[in-house]
Amino acid sequence: MKYRKPVIAGNWKMNTDIESGIKLVKEILDLSDSIANVEKIVCPPFVSLTSIARALNGSSIQLGAQNVNANENGSFTGEISTTMLCGLISHVIIGHSERRMFNGESSNQVAAKAITVSNAGIVPILCVGEDLSIRKSGKAANFVTKQLKASLKGFLNWESLIIAYEPIWAIGTGEAATSGQAQEMAAICRKVIYQLSPDVADSVRVLYGGSVNSGNVAELLIQPDIDGALVGGASLKAKEFSNLIRIASSN
Ligand code: 13P
Repeated sequence: MKYRKPVIAGNWKMNTDIESGIKLVKEILDLSDSIANVEKIVCPPFVSLTSIARALNGSSIQLGAQNVNANENGSFTGEISTTMLCGLISHVIIGHSERRMFNGESSNQVAAKAITVSNAGIVPILCVGEDLSIRKSGKAANFVTKQLKASLKGFLNWESLIIAYEPIWAIGTGEAATSGQAQEMAAICRKVIYQLSPDVADSVRVLYGGSVNSGNVAELLIQPDIDGALVGGASLKAKEFSNLIRIASSN
């Protein structure tokens, strides 16, 4: 099996203002800038990106956005494009379940974003995951397979892709998927990649997200198809987030 460098990415969601965001990232830097063998990414709100990019300059921590428009420019009031983000960030979260739920984003739109993002030289962190009713009906594997295929329609730049399996029922609930459930679904994501582009299936990183903390991350990361974590709540606490980074570096 190919070596895949683990990724710990923090999704700050709609939390922190500019001042508290800078404070948080400085604390994270103090605690984890020197930790090697793990890719570290923080994804603050748009308004903080410029100041946080400055704080991270020259460090080992990379910067991501939480969303982007699929168009490169134009009459899309209030939207942010890859053209604006180029040079500022290296990653962008797309297709997060909160955007699919609260902003009505379809997998077609997510697929368009994935293409625009990778064309701009930015790595998409593409999220998929089922809700509780789908999980209970035993159709999670089928649902995520379809959702991932649809979200990657037309995608070609396979060297530049991270996938995050985030079951909706585990997000912000304190009830993470078991390592067995998470591994099963990460393997399904990898199988989809194999079907779409066999040569890269072994190198694309698949993350798990949903109530990850320093108590459960080690068990998740030792699973053969899980290559890191996309972290919400725990990424807002410098010490806890740095603990996740440390555990991932030694896993
Ligand atoms: P929590 O870690 O707070 O469950 O959030 C996960 C998530 O949605 C990351 O994108």
